[in-house]
Amino acid sequence: MKNTRMLFAKRPLGEPDDECFRLEEADIPELEDNQILVKVCWLSLDPYMRGRMNDVKSYVAPLEIGDVMTGESSGVVVKSTSEKFAVGDHVAVHKGWQSYIVCNDDEERLMKINLDNGSLSAHLGVVGMPGRTAFFGLTEVGKPKAGETLVVAAASGAVGSAVGQIAKILGLRAIGIAGGPEKCTYVKDELGFGDCIDYKAGNLVEELKAACPDGVDIYFENVGGEVTKAVVPLLNSGARVPICGYVSNYNDEDITKAETPFHILEQLDEVPEHRFFVVFEWQDRYEEATEQLGKWVKEGSLKYRESIGEGLENAPELFRGMLKGKNFGKQLVKIADENS
Ligand SMILES: NC(=O)c1ccc[n+]([C@@H]2O[C@H](COP(=O)([O-])OP(=O)(O)OC[C@H]3O[C@@H](n4cnc5c(N)ncnc54)[C@H](OP(=O)(O)O)[C@@H]3O)[C@@H](O)[C@H]2O)c1
Repeated sequence: MKNTRMLFAKRPLGEPDDECFRLEEADIPELEDNQILVKVCWLSLDPYMRGRMNDVKSYVAPLEIGDVMTGESSGVVVKSTSEKFAVGDHVAVHKGWQSYIVCNDDEERLMKINLDNGSLSAHLGVVGMPGRTAFFGLTEVGKPKAGETLVVAAASGAVGSAVGQIAKILGLRAIGIAGGPEKCTYVKDELGFGDCIDYKAGNLVEELKAACPDGVDIYFENVGGEVTKAVVPLLNSGARVPICGYVSNYNDEDITKAETPFHILEQLDEVPEHRFFVVFEWQDRYEEATEQLGKWVKEGSLKYRESIGEGLENAPELFRGMLKGKNFGKQLVKIADENS
């Protein structure tokens, strides 16, 4: 048995091409004391990975050439020398793009999965990191109040779809922005947002204004750029802008020169309350959030969709696609069946 893993091979300039990745096979080391071997079933592909490929300081250190590509996976424990984890336990762990993972049982980003809260794949999406990002970003930074209007872009995606639905659960009116009519119909008809505007149709400013007759109280920032510029004239006095990310800039050749949401917001006559947040800020409350999200999923008030590709060798192409909206819902890579 060998571990297949994807290494970071070259820093990209713009969109990461195939030369930025190198697939290799490696031996799986014998376990030392208090370790587990995880057979990976699912790998999550997320926008933040593009940032790690730049040699730029961020809230986490950049990848070095030759590192395993960063990422979170979910799977099953197949060997254990740990008292905390038994063979057959389900886990999520942040150890990169690989098919088998050896890690210590006190690894910081290792979590036991309770399948009552959702499937193995859902623990990388709606009840996992993106769902928790939506939950904490909205409730803690957005400070939502019933009756308010919230706008979120990338609205059919992993974070955005959860943000709008949680806002609805809390009694807000949720307006989405997404790329293309199919995604917008899904956001409106399946997820139940008040409206969803197709930013690619060329009429974003007017359509958004019509969809938000009472202005915007919370703009949950996922995207940046032209979308942000279209939303800001509608912000009400006292509006909040949780800055979750700005994916429209992630493939810029030099992200340090990007016009970020901070630049756009700080030029306004009335600067709204805004701050960048990272989901780790609430690491000690992950279980609470996952249970709440799982409960909403079971009740039918939180729906989700997954975009599934197969095989580590296809992960670079799926990753490039996700950064430009080819995904429809949470982008995952299926690595193996649990029982194969
Ligand atoms: N701060 C945190 O802790 C944290 C944690 C997780 C995620 N995030 C951030 O949350 C955001 C969403 O992430 P996600 O995982 O949920 O990804 P996602 O929404 O599932 O996928 C990315 C989406 O971005 C949209 N997009 C790409 N380029 C765009 C552009 N130029 N203009 C408008 N939309 C564009 C595409 O949707 P369309 O087809 O609709 O354009 C694409 O599907 C990202 O900014 C990410 O960095 C932050």
